[in-house]
Amino acid sequence: MAEKKRRDSEVSRITRKKLEFVLKTVLKDVKPTEEEMESTTHYVNDLVQRLKKAIPKNVEIVSVGSVARGTQIRGTSDIDIFLLFPKHFTKEQAAEKGMEVAKSIVAKRKNERFEIKYAQHPYVRLILGDMGLTADIVPAFKINNALERITAVDRTPLHNKFVNEHIDKEQKDNVRLLKAFLNAHGIHGADVETEGFSGYLCELLIYQYESFIDLITKIADLQLPLVILPSKKVILNPKSAEAKVLVKKFDKDFVVVDPTDDNRNVAAAVSKESLARFVVASRLLLRSPTLDFFYGPKYSDVYTERKLMRLRKELGLDIYLLHFKVKNVAEDIIWQQLRRFKARLNHELLENGFDTAVSFENVSKDNGIIAFFMKTYMISHYVAKGPSIYMREASSRFTDAHTKSLGIMFDGDRLVSLEESTHKTPKDVILHAMKSRDGFPSSLRREDARLFVNDMPEQIAKLLYAAFVKKTSI
Ligand code: CTP
Ligand code: MG
Repeated sequence: MAEKKRRDSEVSRITRKKLEFVLKTVLKDVKPTEEEMESTTHYVNDLVQRLKKAIPKNVEIVSVGSVARGTQIRGTSDIDIFLLFPKHFTKEQAAEKGMEVAKSIVAKRKNERFEIKYAQHPYVRLILGDMGLTADIVPAFKINNALERITAVDRTPLHNKFVNEHIDKEQKDNVRLLKAFLNAHGIHGADVETEGFSGYLCELLIYQYESFIDLITKIADLQLPLVILPSKKVILNPKSAEAKVLVKKFDKDFVVVDPTDDNRNVAAAVSKESLARFVVASRLLLRSPTLDFFYGPKYSDVYTERKLMRLRKELGLDIYLLHFKVKNVAEDIIWQQLRRFKARLNHELLENGFDTAVSFENVSKDNGIIAFFMKTYMISHYVAKGPSIYMREASSRFTDAHTKSLGIMFDGDRLVSLEESTHKTPKDVILHAMKSRDGFPSSLRREDARLFVNDMPEQIAKLLYAAFVKKTSI
């Protein structure tokens, strides 16, 4: 009772009531129906049976992930089935056998097909056509504690155990609310694109803070560092020596130590920006506890090309957009390479005197884009600075090196050279970077890369607009 009173005083009674009402509505939307849960369970059992027949006896088959834990969101139930190999298999053997078995159980008559997915290791995704479900069949190793781990996903069954032993039914619904909230704000998922909160992190946060409302109330007031030890269910005093040690160990000021593995920060993937978005979204929801604030700003992606044109005119900027076809490699890798290439282009533009106002990247299926909003101007000349003439050798080297100079002049006692720019416009810089063979990201196809300035096909405009909205909405 005392505990309850204390909590209520932190978020006003009226806010809490309103919020509870909103959350009830959201939960109706995001909790899978009884039917969905039943048919998913049925499919899980069916797949496990089929796998059992095809795999060596000493390989254990377990259902893991949000479906097994009851923390999945309606309509996105993706089944995760792990094949736990004994440790005398090598990684390669386990991966190969796992793929072979997973592929062998695909039933065409049930309208099933498979895709090979790539994470640290390739695995098989079954697309269960009639059901609109997917099932990831992932090879891993059977371990009793995290120290024995061979691959990154070996801890997963240990996560299952922790979650099922520590989180009750009501809290599982709170996990669903949290995932829905983070989804709405584009920060659910630990992938490179999102740099947000994984499903397991959501579960640990609800365990620690007990409910969605308590969590966002605390997050709204967050001060860093935030160091959580779910194994003891404590939040460390940020000034304590223990907190400092962990912040240093994980090189991060948001740490949630995996209760199944002291050496892992479950929040490692959360970027500063994603955490900041969570804080701001929590504050806004507490200030206006309505469905609109739960789901955040919406946008429509019709007439995107026209909208972009209006926007660029208002800003007085031009849009330089690079479009690539992307190769079939892990999405995380594509995002990494896009971001790195974008950073390189930004740097080269700046080096040549062009300052971008804002830049974007996005990927959808096999289309990737990098875009810059910037002013177009021409830089025909620039002044290269040289040494003082009192540095006799250096100044003669400078004169020798600038044979194409339009004029070597004095700037006080320093030499400067008026030079013609190699790249006179942003377009020149970008086209040059696209032509350079070395350093061109391997998962973007150079052959069919194209530069659009302002005008672009509607499909590509949609990708840019989505990135724009995501970046500019809080
Ligand atoms: N996992 C992990 N490390 C990763 C990816 C996954 O430990 N880099 C484990 C987690 O225990 C996770 C499980 O694998 O719960 C399944 O991963 P995933 O399907 O990505 O997440 P879910 O928990 O199933 O959550 P949801 O699909 O609802 O987002
Ligand atoms: Mg899952």
